[in-house]
Amino acid sequence: MTTATATQPAGWEQRFSQSAHRMTSSIIREILKMMSDPELISFSGGMPAPEVFPIAQFQEATQRVLEQDGRRALQYSVTEGYPPLREYLAAKMRQDGADVRAENILIVNGSQQALDFLGRLFLDPGDAVLTGNPTYLGALQTWSTYGARFATVPVDEDGMRTELVDGVLAGSECKFAYVLPNFHNPAGVTLSAPRRQVLLEAVARRGTPIIEDDPYGELRFEGEPLKPLVAYDPERVLYLSTFSKTLSPGIRLGWIAAPAPVLDKLVLVKQASDLHTSILIQMVAYDLVKQGVMEPLVQQIRALYRQRRDVMLAAMEERFPKGVSWTRPQGGLFLWVRLPEGLDSMRLFRKALEEKVAFVPGQVFFPNGGGANTLRLNFSVSAPEVIREGIRRLGKVLAEALG
Ligand SMILES: Cc1ncc(COP(=O)(O)O)c(C=O)c1O
Repeated sequence: MTTATATQPAGWEQRFSQSAHRMTSSIIREILKMMSDPELISFSGGMPAPEVFPIAQFQEATQRVLEQDGRRALQYSVTEGYPPLREYLAAKMRQDGADVRAENILIVNGSQQALDFLGRLFLDPGDAVLTGNPTYLGALQTWSTYGARFATVPVDEDGMRTELVDGVLAGSECKFAYVLPNFHNPAGVTLSAPRRQVLLEAVARRGTPIIEDDPYGELRFEGEPLKPLVAYDPERVLYLSTFSKTLSPGIRLGWIAAPAPVLDKLVLVKQASDLHTSILIQMVAYDLVKQGVMEPLVQQIRALYRQRRDVMLAAMEERFPKGVSWTRPQGGLFLWVRLPEGLDSMRLFRKALEEKVAFVPGQVFFPNGGGANTLRLNFSVSAPEVIREGIRRLGKVLAEALG
């Protein structure tokens, strides 16, 4: 005898967790999908120039690591990270004035993973985070899944307007302040030295920690480097950086420097998440560092991006209509464009696609709305002649929109 059981649909939507329901597809992913059109000139991604990837050096380093220490490179390893790499990163941070030891460093799969872990460590649904307005979309995305709210402070030519931080902290208890000190993504601006002081004093008064996210600090092509926030207050500032904008983003290698109580917890979070970052990749990266690859590579990247920024700025000067303004970044990958009030860059985005040029509409970087008349342009990835042509196309779209 057979018993018939009616099959039920799995009902996936109802089974997803609350945090899964908070995940939304970003426009960035939608834009990446369109990148396959060979005629499209894209200023939308945040990608490094692939022509400077040190491919041959990677090949040699991988071979050396496997020959000299292959059994270790292919075995499970410790969660904290490869000790010599941690030593190297701590020493590098000490050169920048931060009192950091190897024990304060956790190696992660890119700084995006550190942002996620910090969300997991600090955020309960409804908690507030202080951010610039605009700010890095990847941070908004990951912290939104933990149910974060965002208390924002405007960003201008000198970075976050830190004179407003105290008032925002007074109005809203924030778990931490998220700061992009150098060559801000998306705004391209750098937090000035006086504002760094104002920020440090404001958070010290309220006891608020800072997350200092610094993927672009090394990519300064003019002006004097400024001391990182962590150099002033290593007990309050959690510092994140990455090899993504120097060696390669594909290797997914970054780090966080944090005081012992935070680092100990982060190690537990990482252990539960993925045990450890690829030890092979860590050993290869350390080998590259030891071979002296970084310094000339960073010099090469700075020269290349500086040239591309200059080409883009000159083309914008020539092609963009009156009433449009933009930032002049001293480093990094991005330019930030402001259109006259009333123009909507999301609508212009569709027109731009018809002209086969893409950017990121600025409003996606504003957690609580606004910014419709802004957009982000990347200058690192396109060759000069492509930049000129793309800006010509964009200039046409803007001129039409402005009548
Ligand atoms: C401000 C900022 N933080 C973090 C990241 C993530 O970088 P990673 O490749 O190290 O995960 C990026 C990448 O573009 C970024 O711009």
